[in-house]
Amino acid sequence: MDIFVIQGPSRLKGRVEISGAKNAALPLMAASLLGEGPTTLCRVPDLADIRTMLELLGELGVAAAREQDGTVTLTPADADCSHARYDIVRKMRASVCVLGPLLARRGQARVSMPGGCAIGARPIDLHLRGLQALGAQIDLDQGDIVARAKRLRGATVFLGGPFGSTVLGTANVMMAAVLAEGRTVIESAACEPEIADLADLLNAMGAHVSGGGTPRLVIDGVDELTGADHEVIPDRIEAGTFLAAGALTNGELELSHCRIDHMLAVVEKLRETGAIVEPSNGGAVVAATRRVEPTDVTTQPYPGFPTDLQAQVMTLLALADGNSAVTEKIFPDRFMHVPELLRMGANIRKEGPTAIVTGVKRLVGAPVMASDLRASAALVLAGLIARGTTTVRRVYHVDRGYEHIERKLCDVGARIERLSE
Ligand code: EPZ
Repeated sequence: MDIFVIQGPSRLKGRVEISGAKNAALPLMAASLLGEGPTTLCRVPDLADIRTMLELLGELGVAAAREQDGTVTLTPADADCSHARYDIVRKMRASVCVLGPLLARRGQARVSMPGGCAIGARPIDLHLRGLQALGAQIDLDQGDIVARAKRLRGATVFLGGPFGSTVLGTANVMMAAVLAEGRTVIESAACEPEIADLADLLNAMGAHVSGGGTPRLVIDGVDELTGADHEVIPDRIEAGTFLAAGALTNGELELSHCRIDHMLAVVEKLRETGAIVEPSNGGAVVAATRRVEPTDVTTQPYPGFPTDLQAQVMTLLALADGNSAVTEKIFPDRFMHVPELLRMGANIRKEGPTAIVTGVKRLVGAPVMASDLRASAALVLAGLIARGTTTVRRVYHVDRGYEHIERKLCDVGARIERLSE
């Protein structure tokens, strides 16, 4: 297993190119199952989760070709297997987004029921309720969801849950509805840019989806879809992580290939901490010159502050000149980074879904353990600013979602070495 050995503190300065979004690419890749011909996606990041999705699609009869520049061509070739096995789903929950396309295109799907994960309980009841509303028969057999439907029928589907809408649930129901008979209306749909991106690809394949990126999607089913060419949107979470890194290290970073309009809540919060964040040449610049100011952050569905940046911003606030409250409203147990940050000298007290962060003047290097993707990014950020050596174990979590993170950080002044343990 690889570890990162980080020497701090450092000040980041320079230019970083943001990769295509993992969380957009995964459902886009699943959508290739719906087409009659090849779908070509550009700017697909080279990440462990993407490789897992390629493996899964391979088992489902989709031939894949990947080029060095991140272009991936997916050609559905063989419809015999519609089973997403536990061995793959347990590695990556997002595997569940093949359920809708398999059901719509092949009339059946068997997908292992995903369990919880390090960020808490993650039910998929809304996905299943949505597919049932379209006429699917759903059973549970040996830990697998077994879904069947001769032809799905359009319906009105409400996808709001106790923590807002569901991103992959919206993707699943939308991908099922594009081949259903008649009109589907999804109310309380997720508004994340990744969902709007999926709607764009589906429309390029011949679907009739309107309202992508809003809480009301209207989908008029068609009989068949073709393949299409599509460019994956930039990764707003990777971009937000680099903005936080620039602010945290009193640095000066220019991010290219990033959509600041997808990150307004994040930009606003970083400005409240005293950082300067401005659009620049189709990207963004961040600069900071003084101690972080405290602020309160509450995670919310898009366009609110994303849960996927909560941990990284907590590292920033750990150094603030005062108290901040960080409240998690999407995954109330997503605080595995807190005990690790405490090992580095942070002062954080958890009260239910809120962490009270009392800023300290400095963090100190320590051996820490990554527990999930975003928590590990928060620990890498902490290592950049901490005095001395920080060793981050289990960096395979980081590798699931950040393309060449240590190379990108070292190029702008960080001192990180990847070692095999
Ligand atoms: C997506 O997960 C992302 N994953 C997550 O990113 C992200 O944290 C999450 O959306 C929220 O933004 C991908 O896009 C691959 P949800 P998803 O269904 O779709 C509850 C990362 O680090 N819920 O929108 O699985 C659920 O428990 C990952 O890149 C139900 O109650 O999340 C949560 O509280 C981690 N029933 C809330 O809704 C359901 O059927 C939002 O979850 C589905 C969800």
